[in-house]
Amino acid sequence: MIVLVSLILLFGGVGLLSLFLFKKCSINNINSIKSKYVVVTGGSSGIGKSLAKLCVQLGADVTIIARNEEKLENALKELLQYKSGEFQQITAVSCDTSNYPLIKSELEKLEANTGPIYMLINCVGAAICGKLEDMSIEDIESQISMNFFGIVYPIKAIISKLKQRKEGIIVLTASQAALLGIFGLSIYSGSKFALRGFAEALDMEVRPYNISITVALPPDTDTPGFEKENIGKPKETALICETAGLYDPDVVARAILKDALKRKFFSFLGFESYLMATLCIGMAPFSSFLEVIIQSLLIGPIRLISAFYLTKFHCIVKRLAE
Ligand SMILES: NC(=O)c1ccc[n+]([C@@H]2O[C@H](COP(=O)([O-])OP(=O)(O)OC[C@H]3O[C@@H](n4cnc5c(N)ncnc54)[C@H](OP(=O)(O)O)[C@@H]3O)[C@@H](O)[C@H]2O)c1
Repeated sequence: MIVLVSLILLFGGVGLLSLFLFKKCSINNINSIKSKYVVVTGGSSGIGKSLAKLCVQLGADVTIIARNEEKLENALKELLQYKSGEFQQITAVSCDTSNYPLIKSELEKLEANTGPIYMLINCVGAAICGKLEDMSIEDIESQISMNFFGIVYPIKAIISKLKQRKEGIIVLTASQAALLGIFGLSIYSGSKFALRGFAEALDMEVRPYNISITVALPPDTDTPGFEKENIGKPKETALICETAGLYDPDVVARAILKDALKRKFFSFLGFESYLMATLCIGMAPFSSFLEVIIQSLLIGPIRLISAFYLTKFHCIVKRLAE
């Protein structure tokens, strides 16, 4: 009985402390990108567009990159409304980021015209849902190409320059699917897990050069990309994901930018996501020893809770398979 009460008190205390720290994380110096140059790939829509808008509002020079020129033009018009100074440069470039020679040459031109890139926010990506046997080879290859190469190539194109300058912030938009596998998202999860492994290794390479890596783990967000994802989403996937709710892209963008400016490795939104990221933290980089102590105390109990959720998810799949 005494052991049980002590455990409850211990985990309750740790939970409250982490809640406090979690809240504290939302206060920060968000003005630090004023007059800096920020490039947002996937900036013509959804989370990327919201991030670009926020960077413009904060006084940064901003370029958005995506493929479709009409969507880019419309997004650019929208961004220009938030421009605060005459000299603030807001531009848009059409380019497929999964084509290395193309994105390398576009980024070189941009640096020559606008100046050194300080922050690269990568928001390219999409989910195509379906069971593996139902997925076409084109859909498999396009997801890997877009979600992995489409993010790795722009980073590869500028990383040596950031290292020379000894400053920079890189954001990679992954997903909660980079933490757990979900029915109907096998290829998407695979591409996002790969991104997370890439980011952990890259962080070790660039940290001595004052460059930070932030991996964003957004929850379901109300974007054109999410609308597309819902087409053909298996019933199982919808039922498993519905518990998490749907977030506004501006809210998601704000959380990502704050965490990136604080140079945090993982960026997540909401207490549920915090618990999930804590459970799956593995050998990911950490910001403080206090964070590590809290994580190590929480991982055990969260693993127990996760067993409940996993059993629920498997029950959904089994029920629909019968
Ligand atoms: N929305 C969600 O619920 C959610 C949740 C978790 C994670 N995420 C992740 O967050 C990121 C953004 O998602 P979103 O929902 O905001 O998507 P979105 O609304 O579809 O926007 C995707 C953007 O990426 C661009 N893009 C796609 N492929 C490209 C390529 N090869 N080269 C250049 N630009 C490309 C698109 O423009 P073009 O098509 O014109 O190129 C568009 O600007 C993705 O990585 C997604 O996996 C989203």
